[in-house]
Order: sequence, then structure tokens, then C-alpha cells
Amino acid sequence: MHNFIFQNPTKLVFGKGMISELGELIPAGKRIMITFGGGSVRRNGVYDEVTKALAGREWVEFWGIEPNPSIETLREAIALGRKHEVDFLLAVGGGSVIDGTKLISAGLRYDGDAWELVRKGAWFDTLPLGTVLTLPATGSEMNSGAVISRRETKEKYPFYSNYPRFSVLDPEKTFTLPEHQIAAGLSDTFVHVMEQYLTTTGQSRVMDRWAEGLLQTVIEIAPKIRADRHDYDLMADFMLTATMALNGFIALGVAQDWATHMIGHELTALHGLTHGATLAIVFNGTLRVLRDQKRDKILQYGARVWGIAEGSEEERIDRTIARTEEFFRSLGLSTRLSEEGIGEETIAEIERRFDASGAAFGEAKNVTGAVARRILEASL
Ligand code: NZQ
Ligand code: ZN
Repeated sequence: MHNFIFQNPTKLVFGKGMISELGELIPAGKRIMITFGGGSVRRNGVYDEVTKALAGREWVEFWGIEPNPSIETLREAIALGRKHEVDFLLAVGGGSVIDGTKLISAGLRYDGDAWELVRKGAWFDTLPLGTVLTLPATGSEMNSGAVISRRETKEKYPFYSNYPRFSVLDPEKTFTLPEHQIAAGLSDTFVHVMEQYLTTTGQSRVMDRWAEGLLQTVIEIAPKIRADRHDYDLMADFMLTATMALNGFIALGVAQDWATHMIGHELTALHGLTHGATLAIVFNGTLRVLRDQKRDKILQYGARVWGIAEGSEEERIDRTIARTEEFFRSLGLSTRLSEEGIGEETIAEIERRFDASGAAFGEAKNVTGAVARRILEASL
């Protein structure tokens, strides 16, 4: 196990009706800016519950943070926050609203253009931020990451900042999610665990078992949720699993990969594909190309998560990779680039971008432009 220092300061406020806690969670006297997406919160009662909980408080609202939040939109939010001299931010929505608001919280404390912060990669002088999550997927509600896009140039990059002070998670508020967003959220959760688990064996028994438990939970609940999207207990497990998958708890002292994510971000930037949908395509290619480097861990994953224990090592690896692709298909997602009409032109552009930035992703830092090309070709 590698050395580590770990602290996750986000207060998690979980369950039915818990949005009513907001009045207690946000300190009195704060000038609040509440940020939203495109309007789903008006249709599922979240907006009404938030405003009721904050009755008597002062706030301004910023609407329109889009999926894959863009710097173009976030600049407008920063300008509004400056104008009203806000000193507390409340993000209400999915990962995109929360990610975007993390950048707003940094941008409000920075004199230059906020895109400079994205390119720096991190900025920790921020306004305090709380969240109300409506979509289980990203873990943004309990981590310090964000991913910000620039429409003008079709770019998308990770950015790190402070953790939310608190996050309110009411599983009932996920009942209005469309089927595709649920599928993408399950895929994202699954691959978050994989990016921290599927590297090498023998690093930590407890991290392995924890990760395998989260994978097994996703596998167990996915078909049930697809059959009934309004079951409170299923959505509660989904929400908590998504949070636990990317709040740092399963990454303690172990190597991490993230190559699939970095390639997936390029597919979203270039084609607008939903984040979780990109992972369902790329992850299988990553397994196929890096099967030798990851062989012992693929064997462990196959045996412990899918019960694949018979046959030669090569056969077991083949079956484990096939079973993983089947799982993504069972969510109703494409698992091949060709299904999305994506081919050589995009592969060449991603290789060019990775080469230009000197990219070397993955636990072995060997996913360069050339390896990304092989992964994408294996995903065709
Ligand atoms: O905008 P509204 O109208 O609210 O609609 C949203 C949006 O259209 C809708 N939605 C959200 N909650 C709903 C709902 N519709 C009905 N009922 C509800 N309860 O869903 C659509 C997608 O929302 P979005 O926030 O974009 O989805 P998600 O939470 O998957 O976030 C995706 C973004 O997060 C980034 C992704 O790259 C992408 O930009 N990620 C952030 C991470 C992090 N901060 O740690 C890690 C992830 O790997 C990921 O990269
Ligand atoms: Zn993700």
C-alpha cells in the first residue's frame, strides 16, 4: 500500500425530505447564489423544496448550466455572482451543475478569465459551496473534481478545487430521471470503481473488497432499476454507491488508471456524447489493449465479481472482457464507436491531441496518443 493522507470534509445529508435541512446548513446572513441546469428541478419538486427551505433568506438564481458545463455559460454566472456580491453558492442539479458551480466558486475569487483556472488545472481560493444532487453518477457531490468544457474549441478538461461543504441527496428526487441518464449514471459509477480498482493486484485487500462490493452492487441493482425507476430503496443504493465510487474512499493507498475517462472526455468534447455513454464504449477497448498489463487483476475481477473461475487464463480473460461489454449493453448503451457513427477521423484527432499535450495516462503512464489510438481502434 502506498502512503497517503486522506480527508473528505463534505457533510452528507441523505434521505427523503432532507432538502428541508438547507436552512440549517447554509450559515445565516449569507448572500446566496443558487445555480441550476435547464429546468428539470421545476418538474420534480426540487425547486419548490429548496425555495421553501430557504424562505426568508436572500438569494439570486442562475439558470442554464448545461450538461458538460461550458466556460461560456460559467463566465455569465461569475459575472452575475460578482454583480450581487454573493458569498455562498448552492448548486442544485446533476454533476454538470455541481462541476460548473465549483468553477464559479473559484472564478469569483480570481481576477482573470476563468478558463485560465481550468488550464491551470486547480484553484483552491474559492467561495463556500453546498449542493443538492438530483442525478447519481459523477460523485461530484463529495469530491473536489470538476470537468469543464469549451464549446468554441471543442475541449474538455478536469479541474480540481475544494469539496462541497455539504451535499443533500434525496433518492426520491431521482424518480424523474430519463432512462438514458440512468444508464449513463450506472455506467459512470461502474467505471469510476474500475479506474481505481482494475490496475494491479496485491496493493490492498480492503480496497479491493470495497471496490468489488460496489461493482457487485451496481450489477445487482442495474436490471432492477431498469425495470422500476421509482423504487426508493433501489435508488437510495444507486445514489450512495455512486457517491462512494468517487469520494476518495476506494482510492486509499492504491494506483489509479483514468485513461478511459480521458479518452471519453475527448469523445464528449468532439461529438457531444453523454459522459457515461463514452465510458461504455472506451472501457472495453482499454481492457482489450491492456489485457497483458492488467492480466492478474482482470482474472481477480472476473472470478470475484462475475464468478468466472473455469478454463485457462486466456479463456477466463476473454470471458471477463466479453461479460463486461455485455453488462454495458444490458444498460441499453452502445459499446462500439461505429454504433455512434464515430471512426478514423475522430481517432486521428484524439491521437493528435494526446501527442500535442504529451499525454501519458493510466497506472503505468503509458496511454499516449499511439495507445489511445489502439484503444479506440479496439472499440470500433
Ligand atoms: O439540466 P437539467 O434540466 O437539470 O437536466 C439534466 C440534464 O439534462 C438531467 N437531470 C438531472 N437530474 C434530473 C434530470 N432530469 C430529470 N430528473 C432529474 N432528477 O440530466 C441531464 C444530465 O445531467 P448532468 O448533470 O450533465 O449529468 P451527470 O450528473 O452525469 O454529469 C455529467 C458531467 O459530470 C462530469 C462529466 O464529464 C460531465 O461533464 N463528471 C464529473 C466528475 C466529477 N466532478 O468528479 C467525474 C465524472 O467522471 C464526470 O467526468
Ligand atoms: Zn466519470
